[in-house]
Amino acid sequence: QKGGWDSYMDKEIHEDPQAVADTLLGRFDTNGDLNLDEVRIDPETFRQIDKIIIVACGTASYAGLVAKYAIEHWVRIPVEVELAHEFRYRDPILTPRTLVVAISQSGETMDTLMALRHAREQGSQVLAICNTQGSTIPRESDAVLYTHAGPEIAVASTKAFVAQIVAAYLLGLYLAQVKGTMFRDEIHQIVDSLKVMPEKIQWVLDTQAEKVARAATSLVDAKSFLFLGRHVGYPVAMEGALKLKEIAYTFTEGFAAGELKHGPIALVEPGEPIVVIVPSSRGRDLLHNKVISAIEEVKARGAFVVAVAEEGDPDAERYADVVFYRPACPTLMSPLVDVVPLQLFALDMAKNKGLDVDKPRNLAKSVTVE
Ligand code: F6R
Repeated sequence: QKGGWDSYMDKEIHEDPQAVADTLLGRFDTNGDLNLDEVRIDPETFRQIDKIIIVACGTASYAGLVAKYAIEHWVRIPVEVELAHEFRYRDPILTPRTLVVAISQSGETMDTLMALRHAREQGSQVLAICNTQGSTIPRESDAVLYTHAGPEIAVASTKAFVAQIVAAYLLGLYLAQVKGTMFRDEIHQIVDSLKVMPEKIQWVLDTQAEKVARAATSLVDAKSFLFLGRHVGYPVAMEGALKLKEIAYTFTEGFAAGELKHGPIALVEPGEPIVVIVPSSRGRDLLHNKVISAIEEVKARGAFVVAVAEEGDPDAERYADVVFYRPACPTLMSPLVDVVPLQLFALDMAKNKGLDVDKPRNLAKSVTVE
C-alpha cells in the first residue's frame, strides 16, 4: 500500500508531481482554452463575480493565500482568505456576486462546512475545491472543482496542498478568460508554465532530498524554528512551519519577512535556525534584495539560515548556511516547488526523532467537529 515507501507521508510527498499533473488533466479544450463546464456554474454567473472569499483551515488556507496573489493579479477583483472558523462569526459582507471558495482535502472539515452553509444562506455562490469525491463539502456547494491528488492517508497534508494551488489557479485563469481580464496568449503562457511544474517538482525530489536529509540530521536537536517569506513565499513559510510542528513536534512560527523588524527579530539568538524562502532575483529584484537583507539581519545576530532559493542564486549561496534549490520558474509557480523541500525536511526531522510520521499525536485526518 505504501508502494515501497517507509510511510504514507513519504509516498505522498513523492506523488506531488503526479498530483499537479493529474489536477491539470482534462481541464482544457482542443484550442488550449480552459474548459471548466464540470463546475456547473455558467460562464455568465462567473462573469458577474466581483469578489472572492476563500474559506479553509490549516494547509488548505495556505493554498488559498497563495492563490490570492495570483487571482488578484490575473482577474483584478479582491480576494480575501479567511480561516473558516472565523468567517461566520464576523458578519462577512456577502452578495450574490461574491464567490465563496471552500478549499478542503477531505471535504468533511466541519469548520469549512459551517462557513459555506453561512455563505449560501446569505445568497452567495459557493465553489468547493476538494480532493474527495462525494464528500459533504462538494455535495453542499453550488459547484465543485476536484483536485486529483488521489487519496491522502498521512495526517499531514502534502500532495493535496500542491493540487489545491493548481485548482485555485485554474479557477483564477478561467475567471480571467470569461471576464477578459487577460489576453488569451497570456493565459496560454501561464498554463504552459503550470504544465512543466511536475518535472520541476521531480527535479527537487531527485536532486535536493539528500541535502535536506543532511540538514535535518544536523538540526534534529533544535528547540524551535522560524520560517519567513514574502509575497507567495509567505504562505509557503507558514506551511513549512505547520508541517514541522505537526509531525516533528518542534515549536515553529512562520511569518512575513517584512514583519521581522516589527517584533520577531527579538527571538533571534545565536544558533537559532531560520528557514527563508528567497524569491527569484529575476524580474522582482526588489523583493529578492529585501529577503536577502532579512537574511543578513538574522545572520548578524548569529542565526543559522536555511534558504530555499533559485538554483545558482549567488546571494543565497553567499549569506545562507544551507541552500535548498528550486529550478528557475515564474514567481507565481514557485510555491509548487518551494514547499517540497519543506515537506521533506519535516518528514526527515520526525523520522530522526523516531516519531510516527503518518499519525502525529493529537491530530485527526479530518476534523469533523467545530
Ligand atoms: C495540515 C493538515 C490540516 C488540514 C486542515 C484542513 O497538514 O492536515 O491543517 O489541512 O485540517 O483539512 P481539509 O483540507 O481536509 O479541510
